[in-house]
Amino acid sequence: MTIPRYKWQPTTAEIATAAGIEPSDVVRFDHNTTPWPTEWTVELATAAAMSLNEYPGASYLPLRRAAADRHGLEPEQIVPGAGADELILLAARAFLGTDKRAVTMAPTYPLYKIACAQVGTNLREVAAQPPNFAAPTAELIAAARDADVVWLCVPNNPTAVELPRTDIEAIIAAADGVVIIDAAYAEFTGDDWAEEVNRYSNLLVFRTMSKAFALAGARVGYAMGHPALIDKIDGLRPPGSIATPSAELAAAALGRVDRAEQAVAALAHARTWLTASLGEMSFRVLPSRVNFLLCEVGPHAAETAAALRAQGIVVRTFPAETGLGQYLRFTVRSAEQNQRLITTLKEVLP
Ligand SMILES: Cc1ncc(COP(=O)(O)O)c(C=O)c1O
Repeated sequence: MTIPRYKWQPTTAEIATAAGIEPSDVVRFDHNTTPWPTEWTVELATAAAMSLNEYPGASYLPLRRAAADRHGLEPEQIVPGAGADELILLAARAFLGTDKRAVTMAPTYPLYKIACAQVGTNLREVAAQPPNFAAPTAELIAAARDADVVWLCVPNNPTAVELPRTDIEAIIAAADGVVIIDAAYAEFTGDDWAEEVNRYSNLLVFRTMSKAFALAGARVGYAMGHPALIDKIDGLRPPGSIATPSAELAAAALGRVDRAEQAVAALAHARTWLTASLGEMSFRVLPSRVNFLLCEVGPHAAETAAALRAQGIVVRTFPAETGLGQYLRFTVRSAEQNQRLITTLKEVLP
């Protein structure tokens, strides 16, 4: 089996060179990151940088405690990773293999399929149908009955679709194996998931510091779950995959949730504006409470994205086989950057 690879678009430096502009003039609407610089990290990162000659404490206890305190959980219910991505790959190793079954819905975050392929598991993808891409709950419940892992992205990237909590609980109750909720965007919808983690022993919830907490470059995430599940992932974790400054920044950020809340509030405002502006251009925008919008652009979607990129604006395109060939996904960024997106879109549209 050829193992698919996760593909990012070219780097900011490469795009700047191709567009003949400065890297600082490139705006990334493709990564669902937060637009504002993280000035508050400078002092802390500088102090942490003075001890880079030593390894980080392999248990990452301060980070575990900070995450546990945030959710009212115990440190044993938390395991950190170098981003949610590392946790996804570790979970595949912990719970899957050649004789195992996994299920998810499609379209969704592509790494679940890659993680499954890496351990020889064939992933069953239950299709969510256009135009609304509502979660195919009945099929997911049926498939969950004999699955070793059910991957659920809530809210779902790239459609922004939210599964009703009752549907999620029905899937967890039906599941024979582990249900993994990738809650990368949970801060935007106000979901915590700690109560469910305490209630269900077959539930793992993955969180990231990359989105609302604006620490994508630090590479930190954590899993919440029953200690037995957490221990399985912990056993496979590289001893020190999170760098010391990253672990310290993440722990500090978790102690100041108000910063993330401010970003979420500002981005909600920006999202309303961007949704309306795209709507005025007669594009269909799927409902969203997160920091990205899926937009039906039509047959010229790829061409439009290429023309935007030539102007230093990077948006997310999708291969035709995902069923989203005529869609683009736009990260909601600052008011000024969103304005630039709309102005440039108007200029480049065929
Ligand atoms: C659904 C989902 N999960 C995980 C990730 C990756 O998170 P991290 O940066 O913590 O690895 C992303 C990033 O875009 C995502 O959209």
